[in-house]
Order: sequence, then C-alpha cells, then structure tokens
Amino acid sequence: MASDYLDRIYLGDCEQVLKEVPDNSVDLIFTSPPYADQRRSTYGGVKPSEYVDWFMPKAAQFQRVLKPTGTFVLNIKERVVNGERHTYVIELILKMRQEGWLWTEEFMWHKKNSYPGKWPNRFRDSWERLLQFNLQRKFNMYQETVMVPVGDWAKNRLGNLSETDKTRDESKVGSGFGKNISNWLGRDKVYPTNVIHMATECSNRNHSAAFPEQLPEWFIRLFTLEDDVVLDPFVGSGTTAVVAKIMKRRFIGIDSNEEYFELAKDRLKAVQVPLFQLAEPSEDYDLGESGTE
Ligand SMILES: C[S@@+](CC[C@H](N)C(=O)[O-])C[C@H]1O[C@@H](n2cnc3c(N)ncnc32)[C@H](O)[C@@H]1O
Repeated sequence: MASDYLDRIYLGDCEQVLKEVPDNSVDLIFTSPPYADQRRSTYGGVKPSEYVDWFMPKAAQFQRVLKPTGTFVLNIKERVVNGERHTYVIELILKMRQEGWLWTEEFMWHKKNSYPGKWPNRFRDSWERLLQFNLQRKFNMYQETVMVPVGDWAKNRLGNLSETDKTRDESKVGSGFGKNISNWLGRDKVYPTNVIHMATECSNRNHSAAFPEQLPEWFIRLFTLEDDVVLDPFVGSGTTAVVAKIMKRRFIGIDSNEEYFELAKDRLKAVQVPLFQLAEPSEDYDLGESGTE
C-alpha cells in the first residue's frame, strides 16, 4: 500500500483527517489533547462536562488506525472545578473500556522542576497522567530500551540480603506477585518504575503546552522500532513528530490550529540534530515487583 500519507503534518480536525489513514497502520499514538476548558485563549476549550463526548469519536478513529499490537498513550490531567478535581478523566477511562480499549497501565510524569506556590486547600500540582491503552493484552513493548542505572540504593540494599531476599518472596496478600531481590546482584541496569521524573523545560517556547522532547522519546523507545509509525493527533508545535523523525520512525502529526501547523512543519524541516541523550534519573528507583498475570 502506498505510504504517502506518512511523514507529514496535517492541518485539520484529527477525527476528519484520520479518515484518510488506513486501518491497522499505526504502531504508537502518543498525544496530549487540549485539556478541558483550559487555554481557551489559545486553542479553544472543551467543557469538562462535554469532554468525553468530544473525545470518543476521535478515539474511534484512533482505535481503527492502531495496529492490534500497538499502544495509545494519552497525556492528560483533570482540572479543578469548583474546588474539587473534575471526574472527566475517570469517566473517559470507563468509556474507553466500554468501547473495547484495555486500560493497561498508567504512568506518572513527575514534573520535577515545577515552581513553588500557595493555594488555600491544596499543594502545587507537579504530576500528570500518561494513560496507556491497548487493543489486546499482547502488544509490542521493548523494555530493555528504557533501562536505567541501578542507583545507589543497590549498595545498601543488596549488600544486606536477608534469607527471604535470596529466594522468591511471594506476596503476603496472595496477589500472585513476588520478587527475588538477589536476581539484581551485579547488574548495572534495572527496569524503571512507572514514575517518570522529567522537567517540563523544552526547547520550543512558541507553544504554551509543548512537551519536553524526552517525554515522547521515552515512549517511542519503549513501544516502537525504527520504521514503525508514530501518530500524534494533537501535535501542537510538532514535538512528537520531530522526535519520531530523529529516532528514524515514520510519523503522522495533526493539528487544527494553523499557527501550530506551520510551527510544526518549520520544526520538522530543521530536524538534523543528533539524537539527544535520554535523561537518566538516578533517584527513587525501587525493585518493583515481578510476576505473571
Ligand atoms: C496540549 S496541545 C499539544 C502540544 C504538543 N504536545 C506540543 O508538544 O506542542 C493540544 C493541541 O491540540 C490541538 N487541537 C485541538 N483540537 C484539535 C482537533 N480537533 N484536532 C486536531 N488538533 C486539535 C490544539 O491546537 C493544540 O495545539
């Protein structure tokens, strides 16, 4: 099949544009949609109470174009409405499940540089959700590509192994999960947790909600190989597409705002930079638990 729809940025509503993209043709959808009612001045807002209805027809297109082995990662955070967190993200997850998506995992993006502030009834917000959805339980995932240095905890923890640590320590609550800490003796690298510590800084200052490049990079590594197809249906300034191109993936980027569409195209033209280094956070690694589901 001709692939001239790839490696392009499109101007338009993603629901309409995606109708031109074949079924089962995308390996990873990585995106940050407009948050409910936010940034009305720059790209319009969707009322929190209408968010799920607004999102689901688009999700139907995502479901159609995603390969069965593919993954959809959605960066989103519910806003505060009348003094409490709105529930539209929770409602969206439930609706996605009703429509056949599996809510496989949730990653937390800890924005480690968020600046201090004072609010009467809450603390500063310094994390966002990255919801992972799949179409089936078996999907492509390349865990070795995101391994991290073992960290200082290993010296203390692995230097003092108890008898339980030397065998598989089955879960006391009968969850079927267990861990064998001694497996990690002598290793330089371990698997990361589902908390991603990354600053919000990014090289692009012309979009009010641009990702740091390392965020799509981490997920593109984890869920795709070279020449796989990465889609960002709300591509904004083009960050996901730029990173995909640098990483030798094919890409599709869509934005309904002409200014961002032009910005994304300009950024893509300028892509010649060498692959930047993955941030290697050294803090807060735990052994996690391992097991079979
Ligand atoms: C949170 S921003 C994405 C920012 C992007 N991650 C970046 O790094 O620049 C969401 C984008 O969705 C775009 N958008 C809003 N509604 C859309 C729609 N129906 N179809 C396509 N794009 C849309 C907005 O113009 C905005 O640029």
